[in-house]
Amino acid sequence: MPPRRLLITAGHTHEPIDSVRFLGNRSSGKLGSELADAAARAGWHVTLLMGPAPAAPTEPGVRLLRFVSTADLQALLDEHFPSCHVLVMAAAVADYRPVRPAGAQAPEGKIRRGEGRLTLELESTPDLLARCAAARAPGQLLVGFALEPADRLMASAAEKLQRKRIDAIVANPLRTMDAPDIEATFVRADGVSRSTPGAISKRDFAPWLLAQVNDLLLSRAARP
Ligand code: CTP
Repeated sequence: MPPRRLLITAGHTHEPIDSVRFLGNRSSGKLGSELADAAARAGWHVTLLMGPAPAAPTEPGVRLLRFVSTADLQALLDEHFPSCHVLVMAAAVADYRPVRPAGAQAPEGKIRRGEGRLTLELESTPDLLARCAAARAPGQLLVGFALEPADRLMASAAEKLQRKRIDAIVANPLRTMDAPDIEATFVRADGVSRSTPGAISKRDFAPWLLAQVNDLLLSRAARP
């Protein structure tokens, strides 16, 4: 079997407020970068789309492309999603972004301090994973992530799996975001669900997740 092409997104986005400020979140990109390394070692052709997070893959075989904003990531996905076999969407994409970054109209592109309040108007970002799912070619496999409070983790993950029309979702509790370890459940659209053996390091999680993706590909291939 020729090596398969895996596209991974990881890290957070920076949504510009003006030329020097942004809205962001605490995602480290560590999990996605560990996954990229593990997949490259296992013989996959890996492209990693990584936000402005400090983590970076170490395997020379990983093709690393950087994005900053949701709009940048959307453009990269438009370019690279059509040719991948599997997309793993681990990026913590912003849900909202400033409607008109001040760079366009403020002098020097920077908001100046004044008296009183400043209101930022935000718009919701497009759901990039759902967009990819809507444009998928037969055989392409899409895996998302759901980072949720522990008390509604499984219900939210199941809802997102259906709403985004993807093949599987990794459900993990909110505390995973900048923690070194992860306790997760891989929930498949075909009803199969598997959990990690307790909390494991993000390095150990990467081969575990790859094994789940391989199992899903095998069960697809075996389907009449
Ligand atoms: N995602 C995406 N585009 C967005 C937001 C999220 O592609 N604009 C992806 C994430 O990369 C992740 C999955 O969708 O794989 C779930 O992200 P999450 O933020 O948990 O879900 P939302 O769709 O934003 O739903 P909610 O805000 O209700 O949590």
